[in-house]
Parts: sequence; C-alpha cells; structure tokens
Amino acid sequence: MLKDEDRIFTNLYGHKDKSLKGAMSRGHWDGTKAILEKGRDWIIDEMKASGLRGRGGAGFPTGMKWSFMPKQSDGRPHYLVVNADESEPGTCKDRDIMRHDPHTLIEGCLIASFAMGAHAAYIYVRGEYIREREALQAAIDECYDAGLLGKNNKHGWDMDIYVHHGAGAYICGEETALLESLEGKKGQPRLKPPFPANMGLYGCPTTVNNVESIAVAPTILRRGAGWFSAIGRPNNVGTKLFMVSGHVNRPCTFEEAMGHTFREIIDYHCGGIRGGWDNLLAVIPGGASCPIVRAEDMADAIMDFDGMRAVKSSFGTGGMIVMDKSTDVIKAIWRISAFFKHESCGQCTPCREGTGWMMRVLERMVKGQAQKREIDMLFEVSKQVEGHTICALGDAAAWPVQGLIRNFRAEIEARIDQYTHNATAHGAVLEAAE
Ligand SMILES: Cc1cc2nc3c(=O)[nH]c(=O)nc-3n(C[C@H](O)[C@H](O)[C@H](O)COP(=O)(O)O)c2cc1C
Ligand code: SF4
Repeated sequence: MLKDEDRIFTNLYGHKDKSLKGAMSRGHWDGTKAILEKGRDWIIDEMKASGLRGRGGAGFPTGMKWSFMPKQSDGRPHYLVVNADESEPGTCKDRDIMRHDPHTLIEGCLIASFAMGAHAAYIYVRGEYIREREALQAAIDECYDAGLLGKNNKHGWDMDIYVHHGAGAYICGEETALLESLEGKKGQPRLKPPFPANMGLYGCPTTVNNVESIAVAPTILRRGAGWFSAIGRPNNVGTKLFMVSGHVNRPCTFEEAMGHTFREIIDYHCGGIRGGWDNLLAVIPGGASCPIVRAEDMADAIMDFDGMRAVKSSFGTGGMIVMDKSTDVIKAIWRISAFFKHESCGQCTPCREGTGWMMRVLERMVKGQAQKREIDMLFEVSKQVEGHTICALGDAAAWPVQGLIRNFRAEIEARIDQYTHNATAHGAVLEAAE
C-alpha cells in the first residue's frame, strides 16, 4: 500500500499544525519560486507527463486542460476557478483538504494560475462548508501576510485568491453553472461550446478544476512527473483521496495509491465489510451518480478509472458507498433518484420531467406496486434522459436507475410478485402482473 513518504496530504485528519508554519515544515511552499522559474511550458508539460486525471469526477487529463488556455492574452484576463462545491453524495475529500491541509490548495492555485497566465483565482466553496471556508480564508490571509500572495509577492507573479461561498445547490458543482453562480446569476449550466477555456468567467478564458486536482500539483512538480506516473497503472496513475461510507467496519477518507482492488482497500483501511465479505451486497463506487455494482463483480475489481469501466460503472470521485445485505437496494436507488429530481435545475425537458418520472416509478417499485413491463419502460425512459440534456446531471440521474435494473432486476420482480401475492391473499382484484 502507499508508503508514508509518498503521501501528498500529510495532515488529512487535522492532527498536525495546519498553519503556514506547519505546512512549510511538512514541505509545502518549498521551492515554489524555482518551479515558476522553470516557465509555463515546463509546468504544463510536466503536468501532462504526470498523467494526472481530474479528481472532480470526469477524469479529464489536467495538464491537457491547462494547455487549452490561450498562450497569449488577447487583452482579456485569464482566470483559474477551483471547484470546491463537493455535493455529490458519498464524496467528502475536498472538505478535508480545505479544513486541514489548505496550503496544498493555495500553493496549487498560485502555480496553476501562473501556468495559465491568470492573476486571479476564485475558489467556489459549497454553501454548507462554513468551517472549511473559514479555515481556507485564514490560510489565504496568512499567505498574504507572509508575502506569498498579492501584488509584488515573493514569487514574482501577482496573484489574488478570492473565496466565494455558494448557497448549497448541487448543480453549482457543474462547471458552467458554477461560473453563472459566481457571476451572481442563477446557477444554471451553459450550453457548450463555447468552452470555458475560450469564454468562461465574465466571458474570459477560464479553467475550472477540482480542489484535489489543484492541491496535488505542487507536490507532483516538486517530486517530478515520473514519481507520480510510476504509482498505479498506465492511464490510472498517482495517489488519490478515497472515501468509504456505509456498511464497512470503519468508514473513512484516506490517501492511497491507485491500482488496488476494492477488497484490498476495504480490508486495509476500513477493517473489512460489516459482517464479513459474504455479507456484501453491492457498491456504488464513485459517488451517487455511478451505476451500482454487485458484490461479486466489485470485490476483486481494481478501484480506478479503467477498473470501474470494466464492471460497467465509473470511478467518479472515488467515493464508495458500501451496502451490505441488510440494504433495500431498490429503496436506496429511489433515494438517489429523489436527490437528482430535487437538484435538477429544470432547463431541459428530459431532465426536468424524466428525473421526477423515474423517481415516481421507483417509489412504486419499492413497494412492489408496479407492473413487470414497467421495468423495461423505466430503463427506456432513462435512455431518453441520458445524453439528451445540456449538462451531465441528466446522465447522473439515469445511470443509477440503469445500474439497478441491470444488476437487480430479479429483486424488483420478486418485490412485485410479493406485493401481488399479498394483495391477492387479501382478496384484492388485481390486473395480472405479467
Ligand atoms: C451535476 C454536476 C455536479 C458536479 N459537481 C462537482 C463538484 O461538486 N465538484 C467538482 O469538482 N466537480 C463537479 N462536477 C464536475 C465539474 O463539472 C468539472 O468537470 C470539474 O470541476 C472539473 O475538474 P477536474 O478536471 O479537476 O476534475 C460536477 C458535474 C456535474 C454535471
Ligand atoms: S440536465 Fe438537468 S440540471 Fe443539467 S441543465 Fe438540463 S435541466 Fe439543468
């Protein structure tokens, strides 16, 4: 498993000093100026070579994203925007970075902004994260006082960081909705193109990155792309913050090397599955939007981008929701559907109507009060939502439903049979449940 000397986040649990002095003693802000002196192209090339893929869920290569920013300004300012909205159920890693190891993110903001020609970075913090915002702001203030940020700072690159506090809407984590919200408008996703690298915040070239993607950059550049890319397996490299919630003996967040199986991770960090491995029912591997995976497919699957694709799911944010055999899996997916219905911004008809429709059908399926032919109909409707909307919330709402039907059709049918049996036993006149 990951060696201590390869850990990027050395104060994830807040047991050590999180101040600038403490962060410096653990190696942060070390040689930052020398990194900037290597130049923008070197930084971007090194980030590309590191193989880092965005930690916000989609896994887009970070170095490549940075390279999309115009090399020269056409007169408009460039911006870095850090996505600290972290609202995906099952995901709770960015908050630990902000409240316990904020200097990783602040140093990352300076380096990334320099590499993209930005003199200002905005960090958009989830509305509910009040203590996190306070800790982050305190750390930023320390940096201004120490001359690490601001005009004429010690690094020779004028740099301001603004923390913006959201109001607690999941959709504001979608990068273009986030930009709208930052501009003071209603948080509704924009149609793409134009992409933010050409037309982002206030119509200016902008890169939006997740907190973790930015926070790992300084250590990657200090230790070298070769170090980072040697951890894990090709296309799935580096260390990652994983989160485990649900039916394990010790739910927790931890940094681990990519490339391990689910079983290895759970046994090592979480003390195993509650009631033993035979008691595992299913896992949602990367946050609520990722399709559910049955225990037998998940246990020995590699917990990375390709490993989760191989089991028809997605790595997402690395936030695993573990369910043992006590779980009503139909109800669990209904609950997730209710979440997406609630969070839909309502701009696109398939999402606005489809999320509510799927939730209502699932609500009946939880009780078994449905026709078996509705299972295929539900699947079909989810396909009409997926890929037919402005932003990926439509996909995020469709995938859990598809995962449930693919993996637990027999349970849905059994629930319908049970309901039919009970109703018949009580003398109800029923339409035949095909
Ligand atoms: C509905 C929705 C919600 C999202 N929420 C978040 C979020 O809370 N945090 C985040 O980093 N990315 C979130 N994303 C992904 C962002 O749009 C974007 O891809 C990400 O911030 C890019 O960062 P990365 O390249 O560093 O991964 C969300 C996407 C969608 C469609
Ligand atoms: S997919 Fe849903 S959340 Fe996204 S823009 Fe359309 S209606 Fe809004």
